Amino acid sequence: MTVAAKPKILKAAAPDFARDLDLTTREMVALLDLADDLKRAPKDYLDAARGKSIALLFEKPSLRTRLTFELAIQQMGGNSVTSEGPIGVREPLKDVARNLDRWVNAIVARVFSQATIDGLAKRSNVPVINALSDMYHPCQALADLQTIRGRFGPLDGLKLAFIGDGNNVAHSLMLCCARVGMEFAIARPEGYGPDPSVVAQASVFGSKIQITADPNEAAHNAHVVYTDVWASMGQENEASIRREIFAPYQVDEDLMSHALPEAIFLHCLPAKRGEEVTDAVIESRQSLVFDQAENRLHAQKALLLMLLPETH
Ligand code: CP
Ligand code: NVA
Repeated sequence: MTVAAKPKILKAAAPDFARDLDLTTREMVALLDLADDLKRAPKDYLDAARGKSIALLFEKPSLRTRLTFELAIQQMGGNSVTSEGPIGVREPLKDVARNLDRWVNAIVARVFSQATIDGLAKRSNVPVINALSDMYHPCQALADLQTIRGRFGPLDGLKLAFIGDGNNVAHSLMLCCARVGMEFAIARPEGYGPDPSVVAQASVFGSKIQITADPNEAAHNAHVVYTDVWASMGQENEASIRREIFAPYQVDEDLMSHALPEAIFLHCLPAKRGEEVTDAVIESRQSLVFDQAENRLHAQKALLLMLLPETH
C-alpha cells in the first residue's frame, strides 16, 4: 500500500491575509492541498499550533467563522481569546493593533470596513486575517474552492454562477475562481454589481468573467450555482427594498435546471430560505452547503499554519 506524502506547509510570503490576493495562486493551491490533508488526518496536526495564541475580534455576529476558528486553534494545540464589539472606537485602531501584537501570534477580525483590517495589518507585527469585511470574505472562498475541488477535481475549466448581490462573498469568489482558471458569471440587478476595482483585479488572470442581469444566462452550463443573502450584515435597513429588487434572482429548481445536470448548489450561510434560495434547493441532493461549512474548519487550519511563524 502506498502512503500519500504529507503536503509541506508552505509559509505565505505576505505577512497578512487581509484580502484574497495576499496569497499567491501557488500558495492558495498549496493551502487547498494542506486543507485536504487536515480533513483526512486531523490527528496528524494535534500539536501544529502548540504554544500559539490568537485573538479573534468580531464587530458583527458569526456562527461558522467564529466557531471554526476557535475549534481550528484548539484542535491544533493553540489557544484563542475572543472579543466582540466595535474596533477602534474606544481607542485608536493603531493602539488596539499595538496592544494585541504584544499578547498574541495572530489576529483574526470580522469588521464592517476593510479599512479596519488594513489598519490592524499596518500597525501590528503579527499576521492579520480577514474574517469578513464589507469588501471580502476570503476565508469563505478558500473553503468553497476546497468544496468544489472535492466534488469535481481540478478547478480549471469549471464554471461558477453567482446569483444575487455583488457583495463581499461574490468579490472573493470572483478573485479566487479567476486565478484558478474557472469561469465566473454573476447575475445581479442593475446597481448591485461587484465593485469595478475587484472586477479589474480579477480580469488580470484572463479567465472568463460575465456580468449579466439574467440569472438563467449566468446559470447556463454552470458546475456551481452560488448565492448569498440579499441584505448583508449592516444592510438590515435596506432589507425590504432589496427583497423587491432581488425577487427575480431567487435560486429555485427552475434556475438550477439551467445549470449542468451534475451542478452543485453552494451558499456561505446563514441562508434566508424563501428569499435568495428555496427550501427545495437548499435541501436538495445538489446542495453541499454543510460540506462548505465543514471545510471552513479545515481551510482555516491550513491558513493558520501557513501564516503563523515557526509552526512545526
Ligand atoms: N459563512 C459565514 O461566514 O458564516 P458566519 O457569519 O456564521 O460566520
Ligand atoms: N454577505 C454576507 C455574508 C455572511 C457570511 C454578509 O456580509 O452579511
